[in-house]
Amino acid sequence: MKVLVVGDGSREQAIAETLARSVKEPRIYAIMRILNPGIVRVCESTGGGFRRGKPTDPVQVADYAEELNVDFVFVGPEEPLFHGVADEVERRGIGCIGAKKSLAEIEMSKAYMRRLMWKYEVPGRLRFKAFKNVEDAIAYINEYAESLAIKPARQAGGKGVKVIADLQAYLSREKKKVKAKHAVKVVKEHMRGYTDIEDRILLEERVEGPEYTLQCFCDGKTVLPTPLVQDNKHAFEDDLGPETGGMGSIAGKGLTLPFITMDEYNRSVEIVKKLVDAVQRESGEYYKGVIAGQMMLTDKWGPTIIEMYSRFGQPEGENILPLLETDMVEICEAILSQSLAKVKLKFREKATVIKCLAPRGYPDHRELAKGHPIWVDEEAIRKAGGKLFWGSVDTVDGSYVTGGSRACEIYAEADTIEEAAEIAERCIPYVKLLDGWGLFYRSDIGSRRLLEKRMRLAEMVREIYLYREKKGILGKTIDWIPGRGKIEV
Ligand SMILES: Nc1ncnc2c1ncn2[C@@H]1O[C@H](COP(=O)(O)OP(=O)(O)O)[C@@H](O)[C@H]1O
Ligand SMILES: [Mg+2]
Repeated sequence: MKVLVVGDGSREQAIAETLARSVKEPRIYAIMRILNPGIVRVCESTGGGFRRGKPTDPVQVADYAEELNVDFVFVGPEEPLFHGVADEVERRGIGCIGAKKSLAEIEMSKAYMRRLMWKYEVPGRLRFKAFKNVEDAIAYINEYAESLAIKPARQAGGKGVKVIADLQAYLSREKKKVKAKHAVKVVKEHMRGYTDIEDRILLEERVEGPEYTLQCFCDGKTVLPTPLVQDNKHAFEDDLGPETGGMGSIAGKGLTLPFITMDEYNRSVEIVKKLVDAVQRESGEYYKGVIAGQMMLTDKWGPTIIEMYSRFGQPEGENILPLLETDMVEICEAILSQSLAKVKLKFREKATVIKCLAPRGYPDHRELAKGHPIWVDEEAIRKAGGKLFWGSVDTVDGSYVTGGSRACEIYAEADTIEEAAEIAERCIPYVKLLDGWGLFYRSDIGSRRLLEKRMRLAEMVREIYLYREKKGILGKTIDWIPGRGKIEV
């Protein structure tokens, strides 16, 4: 059996390794932009192979798959899906784990996803306005004083979102200036080069609460959820600094996180199912691949969608895949034959923590983070109880060089999140940049202190959304207009 994995990140290493554990002993092949050493190793050790190429080019991917005569293709990242890789692979008669373009739009266009939520009345929807030009967005910003999340209308690789609280009337004018400035930046910088959607900028009501990711397998008929994971987006300790693609993630034993109840887990699954239904009805295609909700527990709705993923999260995928006991090839075959309903997902009962290591300069000055020789003692990491996932690292003339994003991740598992975090922490010294350039990571991820902070926030919002539910105003926005009284939106 042969499988082609598309992509070159830590997520794709995890996918490749999980496929390689199958009793069917597949030979793993990969198409990568940069030669991720972890993926290269899986390809070589399974008797497969790899090619340097463009994972976002449907023809290149499908040609390679055809040449190899693979049994199926597994697409790791979102951009190949947005470019129609799954469509082209299937057109050639090869099975593909990965949503077709019209379905992946649920991630690609944040505006489309929001419209779907309103059209199909999916719980957890937020008020939003999408604009095709910056002038209209600024006119709106100037008219209303409200707290907003200002976003590129398209998935822009985890860049460009700014959340602006506008709570004090006396600061409103200043806040409008900040909002307008960011709106210009979104359109000029973050949306530059993206011509595949018409909307440019999205203004969304701001909500607050702890965030978590729910990742699911889907065959177009059945949605199979996996354990919740929490990613930590901010670059520095205590959730400070710029937003990143994720600096590390945690998952508890069992299905849920310590700050999310089973009822909230089930509600989240229902939301994802409703969205799969909605996007399938719109596109007329079956969703065959991975779908995930990046969610927030809010006082307005309880479980609320922030954005959708048409793939595993990175690093969230690396928390759950090492624990998967069900044969991954069997899961993929069930997705392709739409018999996922018969599969029972089993995970080892462990808490997991991932800590990402990034060269200094990431995320705002990636050019500084790029091009540093990196050294890792994988054997020492293993002895300390951890495991390494390679990230943005290229193989150049047999040595390893950073690519500008998060260079690698330490994974650890244990009976509790804190223990797993301690193991991961002990592995950090075994990664170094050989030219003396700094690497940074977040030591607080998985700590009791951070976990308690999330738990306190969850309790606060839970009390409110449950009260709202009892009063029949879950998800409603209620304003008080002087002289007119209460209005509900
Ligand atoms: N409506 C919102 N209210 C409050 N915070 C938000 C909102 N939308 C996004 N955020 C915050 O911004 C982060 C990034 O937004 P997201 O839509 O996930 O974009 P991306 O991950 O593509 O950059 C979220 O993880 C969340 O912390
Ligand atoms: Mg996000």
